Formats: sequence, C-alpha cells, structure tokens
Amino acid sequence: MSEKLLFIVMTDTAEVGLPGTSRTTDQIDSSVSDLMNTIAALHNQIATLRMQNSEIQARLLDAVVANESLQKQVLALNKRIEDSIKPPLFIASVLEVRDGEALIRQHGNNQEWLVECDKQLEVGMRVAVNNDLAIIRILKGTLDERALIMELIDTPDVDYQMVGGLEKQIQEVRETVELPLTSPEVFKNIGIEPPRGVLLYGQPGTGKTLLAKAVAHHADATFIKMSGSELVHKFIGEGARLVRDVFQLAREKSPTILFVDEIDAVGGRRTHDGTVGSAEVNRTMTQILTELDGFRERGDVRVMAATNRIDLLDPALLRPGRFDRVIQIPAPDEAGRMQILGIHTKNMSLAGDVDLQSLAATTDGATGADLKIMVTEAGMNAVREKRSAVSMDDFRYALAKLRKGEESEPHGMFA
Ligand SMILES: Nc1ncnc2c1ncn2[C@@H]1O[C@H](COP(=O)(O)OP(=O)(O)OP(=O)(O)O)[C@@H](O)[C@H]1O
Ligand SMILES: [Mg+2]
Repeated sequence: MSEKLLFIVMTDTAEVGLPGTSRTTDQIDSSVSDLMNTIAALHNQIATLRMQNSEIQARLLDAVVANESLQKQVLALNKRIEDSIKPPLFIASVLEVRDGEALIRQHGNNQEWLVECDKQLEVGMRVAVNNDLAIIRILKGTLDERALIMELIDTPDVDYQMVGGLEKQIQEVRETVELPLTSPEVFKNIGIEPPRGVLLYGQPGTGKTLLAKAVAHHADATFIKMSGSELVHKFIGEGARLVRDVFQLAREKSPTILFVDEIDAVGGRRTHDGTVGSAEVNRTMTQILTELDGFRERGDVRVMAATNRIDLLDPALLRPGRFDRVIQIPAPDEAGRMQILGIHTKNMSLAGDVDLQSLAATTDGATGADLKIMVTEAGMNAVREKRSAVSMDDFRYALAKLRKGEESEPHGMFA
C-alpha cells in the first residue's frame, strides 16, 4: 500500500516538473489552498493554546498565593505546637489507666481529668501536662516535689541556749513570733495584731536559721523551711503553685513556723525585663505576698524570712502586714563570740590550757558559723594526733588554717 502511494507521489513530481500542463497548476493551487487551510487551522490552535496557557498561568499564580498563605498557617500552627509543649506545664498524678486513656489528678487544685495518651503510663506516675491537658512527658520518681524545696521538722531540737550572742534578737523574736503562737490571747486582750512576718537579715553564718529553729522548738511548732533560690531554680513555672502548696501544708501542720530562707531570690526588686526567668520570679513572689495578705487566722502559722541582702529586697515585701518586723542579726562581738565558743565546746574535753576568752578576743569578725568550724577543726586535729583532749595548740592550728583559707578566698571566714 505505502509502496503504491510512493509511486503516485513520484509520478506527480515528474509531471509537476513538466512545463505547460494546466492540470498540474490546478493541482498546485489546490495544494496551496490546502496548506493555507492547514496553516489557518494551526493558527487557531496556537491561539487556543495561548489562551489555555494564560489561563493556566493565572491559575498557577492563584496557587502560589494560596501556597504562601498555607505556609504561613503551617508556621503559625508549628508555633502553637511548640508553645503547647513548652512550660508552664502542670504536674499531675496518674490515677487510672485504660487503653489509650488515663485518669489524672492535677496537683495543687486536685482537679481530675480523663485524657487521651499514647504513652506507657502506670498508676502513680507523675506526668507533666500542658494547658490543653496533653501529657507532654512522664516525670521520674513519684516523690512529692514539695520535699525538694522544703525541709520539715516536727519540732526542732535547737533551743535558745544554743544560740550565742543574740539576747536582744532572741527577745524580739520571742515577742513577735513565739508569743503569738503560745499565747494568742495576750494580743487579743490588748487588741493588737502581732506582726505578720518577721524578716531576719545579716551576713551568712550568723545564726538566722538557727534562731528560727529555736523559736519553733520553744513554741512547740512544726518548722518548715523553704528556700527562695530552690523555689525559682528547681521548678520553673511551678514556683507560685509550690508556694501555695507549702503555705497550705503549713496550715495543715500548724502551729507552724514557716521559714523562707534566701527570700531575696524571689523577693528581689521586681524586674520587668520580659525574660521568662524574671516573670517566673515575679509570679512566685506575688504568690508569697498573696499568701501573706490572705492570712486571716494567722495565729497558728508564723512566717519568718531570712536574707543576706536586705538592700536587694522589693520594698513591697516590707510593707505593713507583710514582713513588717525587721530584725538585724549581726556578727557577734567579743562577748558573743565567747558565748558561741562556750556553746560549741560544751561537749568537748578541753585541756587545761585552753583559753576561750583569748580566742574570743582574737577572732574579730568571725561569725558563729566560722567559730563552729574552728572548734570542729581543732577537735579534728586532736583526733588526728590521737589525743583525748583538745589543747590550745589545736585551736591555734585551726585558727591559722582558717585564716589561711580566708587569704585565698577573701569572702569567706572573718570577712
Ligand atoms: N549565734 C550563733 N550561736 C551559735 N552557733 C551559731 C551562731 N550562728 C551560727 N552558728 C553556727 O553556725 C551554723 C550555721 O548558722 P546558720 O545556718 O544559722 O546561719 P545563717 O545566718 O542562717 O546563714 P545563711 O545566711 O548562710 O543561711 C549553725 O548551725 C551553728 O552551728
Ligand atoms: Mg540560713
């Protein structure tokens, strides 16, 4: 078939080559017009394709715009996901586990929630939960985190006899903290409110914690100590809630002396630099203020706080109704040092040559804690040399050693 066609084309070509034949001109005309038609048809097709093309271009543009807006949505959603797994997270305990679900109880407010969870949970586990009640992670251990930021002693075994050189301060603390606990009627009868909070301030090692424990002992009260710096550093996002919990515990265990050590860590002048850390500190501190302000029947819980840096404290803490009694705990004078040396050597066997008075005279600037270390060091030296009594030489050795330590570390002993 195709061979036949080829043959015709070849004869046609041969005839076209022959001049003067009208039949071939007609044929050419018709071919030309055929070609013109084809060209016209092709033009049409091109026009149609152009139109289609510009339509597609337009649609592409729409798609690009839509894509951009979707990208933006993706970014926003990612941010939300990120935010939702970031602290603040609540702590909850797992009460029950069923397939894919768990019953949890939020700490602090004791609300219970049934939540979906694909993690391997067990009853009793502690979990961190976000605002949308999604379990973000499982916390190690089943320990009550209050235990990490506080120390609870039913009745401390420290009495006023063990606090040296602070008679005036002991007197003040007895009136403001002990008396309201042991004889609240005295205040009622006279018609005055005892000071709400008492702030002890003074350099490290002067006996602030010791004094607070002694008051708790004499008032036969529970002693709860919480540390401001641990509160803000161990449980970011939980500080305020822990403060609430600890105050709650203080009420449950009353009569209580609640001792807030290092209050400057939370009660420093409130900064507003917008960082998470300072927001956290501010929230924790605000909670302490709220607890102080909100104490109606405060007779049973007395709050004491301590700081080394009163100059850093937010004046809001020192307003009436808060820590409105400020007691300075100074480093001991010579008589005070003598008393403190007496306290810490009471159970030691001392050689006849030991002259505590001259030790007190030569330890100007030493705090109670320094003196305690010196006494222990002297005792250690006697033990090392297998002697049964501690001699004056042991004390001289200990003193020299501590002074030497002081030279290399000038903010320590005898500063
Ligand atoms: N006035 C004191 N009388 C007897 N012992 C003291 C006295 N001051 C300090 N000490 C001894 O030093 C130890 C540490 O003192 P304490 O913890 O009470 O000091 P602090 O003022 O609370 O210090 P910081 O500011 O560092 O908390 C006490 O346990 C006690 O052995
Ligand atoms: Mg202390």
